[in-house]
Amino acid sequence: MKPIKVGLLGIGTVGSGTFNVLKRNQEEITRRAGRSIEIAMVADLNIERARELTNGVAEVVNDANLVVNNPDIDIVIELIGGYGIAKDLVLKAIANGKHVVTANKALLATHGNEIFKAAQEKGVMVAFEAAVAGGIPIIKALREGLTANRIQWIAGIINGTTNFILSEMRDKGLDFGAVLKQAQALGYAEADPTFDIEGVDAAHKATIMASIAYGIPMQFDKAYVEGITKLEASDIRYAEDLGYRIKLLGITKRTPEGIELRVHPTLIPEKRLIANVEGAMNAVLVQGDAVGATLYYGKGAGAEPTASAVIADLVDITRLATADPEHRVPHLAFQPAAISDLPI
Ligand code: NDP
Ligand code: HSE
Repeated sequence: MKPIKVGLLGIGTVGSGTFNVLKRNQEEITRRAGRSIEIAMVADLNIERARELTNGVAEVVNDANLVVNNPDIDIVIELIGGYGIAKDLVLKAIANGKHVVTANKALLATHGNEIFKAAQEKGVMVAFEAAVAGGIPIIKALREGLTANRIQWIAGIINGTTNFILSEMRDKGLDFGAVLKQAQALGYAEADPTFDIEGVDAAHKATIMASIAYGIPMQFDKAYVEGITKLEASDIRYAEDLGYRIKLLGITKRTPEGIELRVHPTLIPEKRLIANVEGAMNAVLVQGDAVGATLYYGKGAGAEPTASAVIADLVDITRLATADPEHRVPHLAFQPAAISDLPI
């Protein structure tokens, strides 16, 4: 069978991780996907760096439109970020009949409803495992593993940068600004790190999880959002003296009045598992009516952990795109499930 052809938009932190992991584990990935996955084209503004990273394996261009308009490309991976050019490119790719994989939670939380509608109308898939909690397969868990459950609430550490900052401030007494610079150098932070430290990134992710868990549209504008910028080293010390850790949590809960959606620093007793999640690690607790409480833990940011999720989506789409469309499992169609009107 001929390889499935992929166009990669943006070969920065996550893009280069994706390229490298695909190359390194090509044999296993091909076996699991049932077909070879070939990154045929790469678009990036820094064409020299992109050529160096891809080493002649893929065609490199600096105009991403050339990728989304290329009839030979089956799947587009959007790893540019933001909601400007990225939205434009994703919608063009969909209009051109291409499946899309993206790690862009900002785009999905704010324009996901439009994107999923366009994808549904065109009969293509939009997959986004990497958009929430980096390498943790939480979207798959919500959509597949917990599919029998009525989800009651989700609470988690879903921003690696802020958890890294809070951990380093507590353990090493380091200054907020210095640790933020470290998080940026390690590839954890967003292009605009205010999204991390003001809680916006966590709210994007909580919005996406709420949409999947409750079958509601993305409603980022309704979220309560508070970051960690008002916290001082003394707050962290006082919390510790009282037997607590401060964590930035993203929380969404089903209540009789509607769905709660909030992000804010939270005091957690230090004996709780989630209080001991350190550095850029993420942890997500999900409460289902049948299963009870479940906990998912892993690296929430960084090149290869995120690439792991991007490639899982690529493999899923490859399997499904290769199968007869009539035999595709609808719940794997990657759009949020039935859209209902639960108030938020
Ligand atoms: P980077 O900034 O490292 O990479 C983005 C790349 O896209 C850069 O190489 C950039 O080039 C390139 N780019 C910018 N504009 C264009 C354009 N118009 N056409 C083609 N290429 C362009 O970001 P990340 O890899 O960190 O993040 C990518 C996405 O993944 C974001 O949506 C982010 O939120 C998400 N994500 C990131 C995680 C992480 O740990 N980093 C984890 C989970 C999700 P240049 O550098 O020259 O501007
Ligand atoms: N900036 C994000 C974080 C990247 O720190 O969690 C992963 O989504």
